[in-house]
Amino acid sequence: MPIPRETVEQILQAARIEEVVGEFVTLKKRGANLIGLCPFHNEKTGSFNVNPARNIFKCFGCGKAGDSAKFLMEHEHITYPEALRYLAKKYNIQIEEKELTPEERMAQTEREKMFNINAFADKFFVDTLWNTDEGKSVGLAYFRERGYLNPIIEKFHLGYSPSKWEAFIEYAKQNGYDPAFLEKVGFCIQRQNGDYYDRYHGRVMFPIHNLTGKVIGFGGRILNADPEKKLAKYQNSPESEIYQKKETLYGIYFAKGAIVNHDECILVEGYFDVLRMHQLGIENVVASSGTSLTTEQIRLIKRYTKNITILYDGDEAGIHAALRGTDMILAEGMNVRVVVLPPEHDPDSFGKAYPTEEVVRYLSANAKDFIRFKTELLLKDAANDPIKKAQVVRTVVETIAVVPDSIFRIAYVKEAALLLDMPEETLMVELNKLLRAQFKKSLGVEAEAIPDDTVVAPKQEQEEETLPPGYYQERELVKMLLLYGSEPVSRVVKDEADQEVEETMPVAQMIVDDLLNDGIVFSDPVNRKVFDIYDQALNTDHLPDDQYFISNEDESLSQLAIDLLSSPYKLDQWEKHGIFVKTEQDVLYATVKYAILRYKDLIIDARRKTIQDNLKMETDLDNQLILMKEKKRWDDLRVQINKELGIVITK
Ligand code: CTP
Ligand code: MN
Repeated sequence: MPIPRETVEQILQAARIEEVVGEFVTLKKRGANLIGLCPFHNEKTGSFNVNPARNIFKCFGCGKAGDSAKFLMEHEHITYPEALRYLAKKYNIQIEEKELTPEERMAQTEREKMFNINAFADKFFVDTLWNTDEGKSVGLAYFRERGYLNPIIEKFHLGYSPSKWEAFIEYAKQNGYDPAFLEKVGFCIQRQNGDYYDRYHGRVMFPIHNLTGKVIGFGGRILNADPEKKLAKYQNSPESEIYQKKETLYGIYFAKGAIVNHDECILVEGYFDVLRMHQLGIENVVASSGTSLTTEQIRLIKRYTKNITILYDGDEAGIHAALRGTDMILAEGMNVRVVVLPPEHDPDSFGKAYPTEEVVRYLSANAKDFIRFKTELLLKDAANDPIKKAQVVRTVVETIAVVPDSIFRIAYVKEAALLLDMPEETLMVELNKLLRAQFKKSLGVEAEAIPDDTVVAPKQEQEEETLPPGYYQERELVKMLLLYGSEPVSRVVKDEADQEVEETMPVAQMIVDDLLNDGIVFSDPVNRKVFDIYDQALNTDHLPDDQYFISNEDESLSQLAIDLLSSPYKLDQWEKHGIFVKTEQDVLYATVKYAILRYKDLIIDARRKTIQDNLKMETDLDNQLILMKEKKRWDDLRVQINKELGIVITK
């Protein structure tokens, strides 16, 4: 039901960002803001900022930002209305449901009706299993024969649908349900003559529960698979407003607590696999139920843990499905391990053949991280064939390229190098090629257009001679202006009385003032325009942001903004210069300061050189003196800058 606009505003105003975030992230006070380790990407420095004054959060590492509702949506993988309801509850705000439009009311009652019929059917199938002769002698006997005990049968609400063709439809009609609706939700099928019969007649029934434990659909297994008749082993509910296969995991309602406790989710394929594991007491288990794993299902798991262990059937098909699954899980920034069962087993049969301790031991002894799983599997086929081995290398590197976090990528390259018995550098080169191609592709440039030799040698060094000094540093500063121009940064300085005071200013002011002080201006005319716009805006109370430039009438400005902002940017990338950042330190301040100093250093170095060259040719003594004075000024500045650089670097 939609939440009225006024209530939404009331909720968002009441929500305190630091309190909402504080429930999930440990925050430390730092000046007016709070910082912590970003929950959205892997990091060791605290780039995650919470700004109580603006009631927003922002991560300088991965760029995620927004208000309380946005945080909850991202962190808990919930929808906007769900986030609002969460906040309303937290801040005791009554949500007065708005009058529904006729269409909304229809949709609403349709959903309610669907939940209702599923609950009704659930009861019927369970009742039939336990309390009818056929249910007991056929359905219950089947579960017994497969080795299932009452507690599991009861817990999962397993049931039985009578073999009589119209048993359920008749019963439902007596209770006022409309056959056309029953057909829509999948309980019956219409014959040519207009009659209906039960879709699940003569099957054992598995209700499928959503996160909150409501039944949203069913799977029904045939009892004696007759190959002659070619009947599908399982009949499943059709998709509906309340049941979407790609967003559903069988068993999630019963597993979520255990998944959080173990910080791990075991992923199996079938209904029976889930049941078996639970019966063994291994409860952090869910099934993708036959469909190949989807991103939505992975994100559902991600609400509870970042660690997935795939436990599929031991046959070819199972191994293949596991291979497909790993890349998708990795792409979500999660960790994935794979356990391969003996080829004749699925988790159900394996769990039936061995006691819990043995199953647990097997799982921990055989869980391989995806690199090992993939490499070993592929190498088996490649043996001593160098062409095949090259293919293996490529495939493994392709998988590593899927991993979003560069630190993990490097770790995986190291491991793959060991397993493949190849130098790390070779794999790194391959990986970089792929990443570059991916990146170019994301910008809409054909991968073929990139010559290979640019992959290893950074472009910067090759072109430096033809470009004005500090070209890249200048662009870097412009980028910082666009991205962080209005972000406040603070640092501690000594005032005239030698007292330590905190000085706060926007990043734009830090850059503009610093350069103006030393009489340095950007050499590129478009960069210069950006500089001037900020210089002027600093006299007002409104600073332009990246959007202002991206959608600027001046095409040279919008082009520059798009160029600069379409490449990924990480605030902590300067760590690769060997700079150590304390968590407590202001990452943004240090980054900007470092960029300014690097830029000035290069500009000044170039000027000193020019003067030096001129000096050699100058014969007039007066002119020589003027040049020497100027050179002295730049030399002094350079010493000063190097000192400051040293401070930033060692601080
Ligand atoms: N499945 C399905 N329809 C089919 C076959 C399979 O929906 N015709 C789904 C079911 O969710 C099933 C899962 O895929 O649980 C795995 O298939 P399979 O391994 O064949 O079934 P099991 O659950 O292992 O059932 P059993 O042990 O009885 O063979
Ligand atoms: Mn199976």
